[in-house]
Amino acid sequence: MKVAIVGASGAVGQEFLRVLDERNFPIDELVLFGSSRSAGRKYTFRGKEIEVKLLQHNDDFKGVDIAFTSAGAGTSKEFADTITKYGAVMIDNSSAFRMDADIPLVVPEVNAEDALNRPRGIIANPNCTTIQMVVALKAIENLTHIKRVHVSTYQAASGAGAAAMDELYEQYRQVLAGEPVTVEKFAYQLAFNLIPQIDVFTDNGYTKEEMKMYNETRKIMHSDVKVSATCVRVPALRSHSESIWIETERPVSVEEAREAFAHGEGLVLMDNPEKKEYPMPLFLAGKDPVYVGRIRKDLANENGLTFWIVGDQIKKGAALNAVQIAEYLIKVNNIR
Ligand SMILES: NC(=O)c1ccc[n+]([C@@H]2O[C@H](COP(=O)([O-])OP(=O)(O)OC[C@H]3O[C@@H](n4cnc5c(N)ncnc54)[C@H](OP(=O)(O)O)[C@@H]3O)[C@@H](O)[C@H]2O)c1
Repeated sequence: MKVAIVGASGAVGQEFLRVLDERNFPIDELVLFGSSRSAGRKYTFRGKEIEVKLLQHNDDFKGVDIAFTSAGAGTSKEFADTITKYGAVMIDNSSAFRMDADIPLVVPEVNAEDALNRPRGIIANPNCTTIQMVVALKAIENLTHIKRVHVSTYQAASGAGAAAMDELYEQYRQVLAGEPVTVEKFAYQLAFNLIPQIDVFTDNGYTKEEMKMYNETRKIMHSDVKVSATCVRVPALRSHSESIWIETERPVSVEEAREAFAHGEGLVLMDNPEKKEYPMPLFLAGKDPVYVGRIRKDLANENGLTFWIVGDQIKKGAALNAVQIAEYLIKVNNIR
């Protein structure tokens, strides 16, 4: 298996190196790509140094079986033809193709089989907040149809990339040293703050990130569910948290929901209020599953249920989900 990572120097690219190794992904040759900023840099994978190549419009993808791309939507759009020209399956982490009708949008716990129908050789990895939410929603959807979702997200700095994580560290240092604060990656100072805007605003007053949660959830779950989201950047370093409210076709008891979450694929139930046990981003960075806790009946709606989830958005929200898609294709012998 020849595998490529495009955007190897980035937060997601670096996570790909860890996840592929951790899961013993079958690789005979690994090739890394980046822009001129990281071309020539070397990364070690399974004891071997690999030099980052400059991503160009040439034949470098000849013989590549799977290309994991995480270099932004512009790069994915510009290079998709070059990457897929010789038959490589492109599993793309950007928002470039997610809502295209001829591109499957896949979370293996929910709709793995969609990955088999990919006329353009591209499979899109959903937005990180959507991935972790649908993994949890699926457990309830298996019981009864979810009609409505209200969600508020608490998204870590690293969701905006490696440099954004560095900026948060630097801002805390600057504040504590009484120095002027550098603000480049976020609209405002994030240290000691919350920013209720992720991505740009659209015409209806919601941000693009919020609309991704609406549209992508429907596409992945093949559902008419309506999703109203408020996405907030918080000064956590890694792992996104979400406060989720759902309305189901029939009432679901807390016990029934707990049982469903406890057995749900990709989920870990962490819900023991007496012992102050609930998911928190600080302690769940680097973990594979989506953690669910604080499960309660909605006090204002008989068919409502509310809960709290935490997932590592660089892992399950990006690299791990993409690798799981590739593992599924290998399992069903559907790479080429
Ligand atoms: N961070 C997350 O939690 C997360 C979660 C889900 C999805 N994503 C998506 O994954 C993608 C990468 O995010 P990230 O957080 O890893 O960002 P990042 O840390 O800023 O890294 C960006 C990567 O893209 C590469 N790149 C940029 N322009 C390029 C070009 N023209 N040609 C080749 N490589 C280029 C960069 O390489 P150089 O260093 O050489 O410039 C770098 O490796 C984005 O589309 C993002 O939306 C991120």
